[in-house]
Amino acid sequence: MKKKVFLTGRLHDVIQRDLKKRYKTVIHTGKMPVSRAELLRRVRGAEGLVCFPFDRIDREVMDAADLQVISTYSVGIDHIDTAYAKKKGIKIGYTPDVLDDATADLAFCLMLDVMRRVTEGDRMIRQGRWSGALGAYDYTGYGMQEKTLGIIGMGRIGSALAKRATAFGMKVIYHNRHRIKDSTMRYASFDRIISDSDVISLHVPHTKDTNGMIHAGVLEKMKPTVFLINTSRGAVINERDLIAALRRKRIAGAGLDVFCSEPVGKRHPLAGLQNVVLSPHIGSATAETRLKMAEIAARNLHLGMAGRKPRYSV
Ligand code: DGY
Repeated sequence: MKKKVFLTGRLHDVIQRDLKKRYKTVIHTGKMPVSRAELLRRVRGAEGLVCFPFDRIDREVMDAADLQVISTYSVGIDHIDTAYAKKKGIKIGYTPDVLDDATADLAFCLMLDVMRRVTEGDRMIRQGRWSGALGAYDYTGYGMQEKTLGIIGMGRIGSALAKRATAFGMKVIYHNRHRIKDSTMRYASFDRIISDSDVISLHVPHTKDTNGMIHAGVLEKMKPTVFLINTSRGAVINERDLIAALRRKRIAGAGLDVFCSEPVGKRHPLAGLQNVVLSPHIGSATAETRLKMAEIAARNLHLGMAGRKPRYSV
């Protein structure tokens, strides 16, 4: 008899076809994220689970199933109770590396967009509010050249962003647990990054140490002209404090791809602010990257189902 696997969302057809040949494959094809009740019901009897970053995979889910492996379609793993999985002997696979360039591209894109006010201009045109543009102060933003970019979390994505920024003539400083060997970038303390940067981009995983690390006290120490970019996880910023800082122009603006609670609706306070650019958690969303992630997620699943360590294992 085929073993059961449950996918909380769809993957590419080619991947799903292969899964169906190997396992009794149950796929949630409705609105995402799958509801808690449906997740608990459909995971019953499953030995493999493919999940997404917005699914909370905790003790209750793991106890409801007979999991050998959890394969997340993400590099982030903060939605999984990894300690409990370890206790139960459940293997966890994830999808690092392949999304580094896509995510760094998006971080840079948000930076350019908010600094040059592209989306703000787009909103203005669509609302029929464009009147003149060539006056000395009309719609002026900021250039990248000579600006200091402070990167917090200099892993693979942070390094990929640094390359892009350097090519645009920015000075890069970074803060990381370990210093890296690259003479073009200067290591700086967290406090220095906060006080000296013109743009700050966050590339840390969400853990208990990074939860809410950008809060009112930290925002207060930033330059009033700083732009804050976040493509990591929403919860590393205290969103309420950020909204307050943006409202009173304590900082210049923000480019955000991730939020404390997703999806974000049009009534969210951030959606009412002009000095922010928002994107719907699309850091990894290129066709090429998403396919590679699906291939890795499937490979991790197969290895875990065979009692082996996933190719990319947590
Ligand atoms: C990840 O992989 O963790 C991204 O946030 C979603 O693709």
